[in-house]
Amino acid sequence: MKVTVRPAIPSDAPLLAEIESESFRQPHWQAEHFMRYDCTVAEVEGQLVGFLVSRQVYGGSAGAGDPEREILNVAVAPRFRRVGVATALLNQELAKHGSHFLEVRVSNVAAQTLYRKLGFVELGVRHNYYDNPSESAIVMTMK
Ligand SMILES: CC(C)(COP(=O)(O)OP(=O)(O)OC[C@H]1O[C@@H](n2cnc3c(N)ncnc32)[C@H](O)[C@@H]1OP(=O)(O)O)[C@@H](O)C(=O)NCCC(=O)NCCS
Repeated sequence: MKVTVRPAIPSDAPLLAEIESESFRQPHWQAEHFMRYDCTVAEVEGQLVGFLVSRQVYGGSAGAGDPEREILNVAVAPRFRRVGVATALLNQELAKHGSHFLEVRVSNVAAQTLYRKLGFVELGVRHNYYDNPSESAIVMTMK
């Protein structure tokens, strides 16, 4: 299946919110939140099927390290899962210069498997990081 990745545009927002609500038991992101960050979307045959939202948290400077980016949200519409959509989105994000990190729920084994497969390693745990339901986060990183 051919997956195309492109930057999100404001008119994508309703579909992004729909994928968010299909993907999380307690969705946190509403349509207006996605464009506040760097948002890329994946399409299959012209249909929007997934997104990745990230931000640069540190710009880097000579002698003081590389840029740092945080992956804030990733989701794929249920009927398009396990065909490489999230992998395509993550590969595009990881091609950006710098180091990358993310938080993932301890119970979200599917996402952890995906991240490990791409080379992320566990850095530590943030206790009670999430609400609704309350849960710890595993912090994962990749240089
Ligand atoms: C996690 C998620 C983004 C994965 O998207 P995807 O497009 O299906 O992922 P890919 O097809 O690129 O999967 C690549 C690899 O990740 C692993 N993986 C993905 N989903 C998995 C699952 N449900 N169980 C176990 N491993 C899984 C597999 O190793 C897979 O390779 P394989 O299919 O050859 O076995 C998707 O399941 C999703 O949207 N989940 C709900 C939202 C979510 O949890 N987001 C992450 C928040 S941190």
